[in-house]
Amino acid sequence: MRDPIGCMKPITQKYGGTFTFPGDPPLVMTGDPAGIKAVYTADPDTFEPLNQDLGVFVGPRSLILASGTNHRRARKLMMPPFHGARMRAYGEQMVRLTEERAAGFQIGQTVTMSDVLQELSLDVILQVVFGVTERAGMQALAKLLLEITNGISPLLALFPALRREFGGIGPYARFIERRRRLHAALDELIAKGRATGPREDILSLLLAARTEDGQPMDDDEIRDQLILLVFAGHETTAIAIAWALYALHRPENAAVLGRLRDELSSLGPAPEPENLGKLPYLEAVCNETLRRYPLAPAPAPRKLLRPLDVGGYNLPAGTGVVAAISVAHFREDVYPDPQRFSPERFLDRQYSPFEFLPYGGGARRCLGAAMAGYEMKLVLGTLLRRHKLRLASLKPDNGAVRAANAGPRHGVRMIVEERLS
Ligand code: HEM
Repeated sequence: MRDPIGCMKPITQKYGGTFTFPGDPPLVMTGDPAGIKAVYTADPDTFEPLNQDLGVFVGPRSLILASGTNHRRARKLMMPPFHGARMRAYGEQMVRLTEERAAGFQIGQTVTMSDVLQELSLDVILQVVFGVTERAGMQALAKLLLEITNGISPLLALFPALRREFGGIGPYARFIERRRRLHAALDELIAKGRATGPREDILSLLLAARTEDGQPMDDDEIRDQLILLVFAGHETTAIAIAWALYALHRPENAAVLGRLRDELSSLGPAPEPENLGKLPYLEAVCNETLRRYPLAPAPAPRKLLRPLDVGGYNLPAGTGVVAAISVAHFREDVYPDPQRFSPERFLDRQYSPFEFLPYGGGARRCLGAAMAGYEMKLVLGTLLRRHKLRLASLKPDNGAVRAANAGPRHGVRMIVEERLS
């Protein structure tokens, strides 16, 4: 928890790229490309999600808890709205929301970037996914969502036995009341979406989605999926952009920032969001950020329902397995000098999905990968085009687990130096 990225190095030095965390069940982590390939290319029915416990928070019908045919059906319905080509429709909203937030920066002010970026990524989800565009509606829904996503006591998450209401008082009773209010607000939004008919937002596309035999998702399922999308999508993207700002403003990476600024200026004063999204060095910077600062060092463990050979080890049914992203992204043989932040690697070489896997892989690969990648480029590019920033402290930040992800320990505090025209 205290050193989520660095802690893997001594473990791999001692045990190699595939190792077991003892526990019930034992959890086998693999950062070897061959082991990762075995996990990501196995028949999806080989596994079920290991942590069913999340249901109380994200809703029992959410995609992340589904397995087998239920998972395949839900992915099929949810994938098309998140397809890369669709994201272009949302670029203008992403850039406009970033400019609105950045317009509030004062010269000389110290800004905690993780906080600003989290508010911004929630704005993006509310507009792009939920279709809520007026300010008052966005603020009301954001408050309800943040009460749930940020307000969960770690004790409740870790100890299911504490999930009792104790006569209507205590943290669990508070959580249940907040969840009831959130469900009521989302039910109203879904009902409104059904009444208004087709729009551009993702909720509208989910309401219109049909299985091959013509079945829609019902309202309870859509509500659970919306909550999951906030859980999975709002902190992650914000942390990734905060890490990018941190890395780019380290003095040892001044040449990287210079090269990126040159590329951004080459677009002229008012570029189309789509053109920002196509810049190769900006893309390489985002990829290198996701490699060097993996948000999910070892995400979403699966439980084997039948034996599986993982990198030469025959694992019995019942074992937990996970692709260890923070091992894979630091292999010397794949990424020479792996601690160095060097976007050039992504210009010089193409990595396989078993070497570079910030979004996981296989049948459960991140549903929002295209949205996250596009948003990262547009938000980062827009912020850098609008302001000159500097880190408030040059003390290295090795990260810490914030809620569920490995983010900068101190939130990346930056001083606003100059507004650029
Ligand atoms: C930089 C930002 C993000 C990163 C690094 C990230 C990473 C991941 C990872 C590692 C997984 C687990 C994959 C696995 O089990 O193998 C995942 C799953 C998921 N992500 Fe993301 N994610 C990001 C942003 C988003 C966004 C913006 C959304 C949607 C708005 C989203 C929605 C999801 C969903 C729904 C799943 C569960 C997929 C399933 O179980 O089938 N993510 N993500």
